[in-house]
Amino acid sequence: MRQGHLVDRFNRIATNLRVSVTDICNLRCTYCMSEDMQFIDESKIMTFDEIEQLIRVAVSLGVDKVRITGGEPLVRRGLSDLISKVIKIDGIKDVSLTTNGIGLAKQAQALYDVGLRRINVSLDTLSKAKFQQITRREALAKVLEGLEEAKRCGFDPIKINAVAMRGFTEEEVVNLVSFARENSYEMRFIEFMPLDADDIWGRNMFVPKKELVDKITKLYPLEPVKSSSKLKHETAKHYQFKDGLGKVGFISSVSEPFCDDCNRVRLTADGKFRNCLFATDETDLLTELRKGASNEVIAKMMIESVANKEAGHLINSVDFVKPERNMSMIGG
Ligand code: 5AD
Ligand code: SF4
Repeated sequence: MRQGHLVDRFNRIATNLRVSVTDICNLRCTYCMSEDMQFIDESKIMTFDEIEQLIRVAVSLGVDKVRITGGEPLVRRGLSDLISKVIKIDGIKDVSLTTNGIGLAKQAQALYDVGLRRINVSLDTLSKAKFQQITRREALAKVLEGLEEAKRCGFDPIKINAVAMRGFTEEEVVNLVSFARENSYEMRFIEFMPLDADDIWGRNMFVPKKELVDKITKLYPLEPVKSSSKLKHETAKHYQFKDGLGKVGFISSVSEPFCDDCNRVRLTADGKFRNCLFATDETDLLTELRKGASNEVIAKMMIESVANKEAGHLINSVDFVKPERNMSMIGG
């Protein structure tokens, strides 16, 4: 039952939905959270049934890719039950999970067993002290154990996300890339974006893609992967090692924005639909759903939100306004 499409004024079509299942996290990464976050009241968080219903409406409008995020999604009890249901929705071609990896040692097998295959694990350093510095928690050993377990289960691909922060990442780049090559993980560096809760972001606070590529290529020569239509909506720019041992991706949201090819929309843990990571307003689907709105009404709200999507973020402009909510509240 296709009711229409999620198309905006610039003819971009949204087919990729990112769903945050909780704003809670067991880390406090400095580029994302503050130490004393105010979490959303549990009564305002979508139930699994509500999440499934909203995803189904989005799928009826052409969404065929779903990524489950947080906060930290694995702190939500029974997450594999939700993923099992999402995978079975007719029309969905791809389901993936972004996690900080702490819960994988215990949960990877259950996730694999319900059919999940693609995971992204956030990891910014391999040093215990620097992990503690960036996440404000001691959990490196757990994350490494989680990655091992995911590999043992057979997840493919396993991508590692590192936020590229000035004064931190320069020294980590090569170690992370070596680690990823040894384990057949795909390393991805994401330029630090102004979505942190502590307001530490500044124009000089991210390490641009070019600098990362230069650093890596000195040790492991890299070449860009030719772009194909399959990669059109990929936020990452892909490079491969000339020796054939894997790939690295760069998400250069600040230095080379990719808004023109954006096909994404988002649903926050409290059921607000966002047409952009940097949107300054949201469409409250959950309140309407709880008032008894029909799927048609919800669909109309999604269509209208996408129709109002801006051309792109204004990070590089003086007019930039930081969204009210930080990354863990929006869903990465
Ligand atoms: N800038 C860039 N990436 C961020 N993430 C969290 N906060 C930021 C930010 N301010 C990343 C995390 C995680 C993903 C969900 O988003 O590293 O991999
Ligand atoms: Fe938690 Fe992810 Fe935010 Fe780190 S980036 S605090 S792991 S939600």
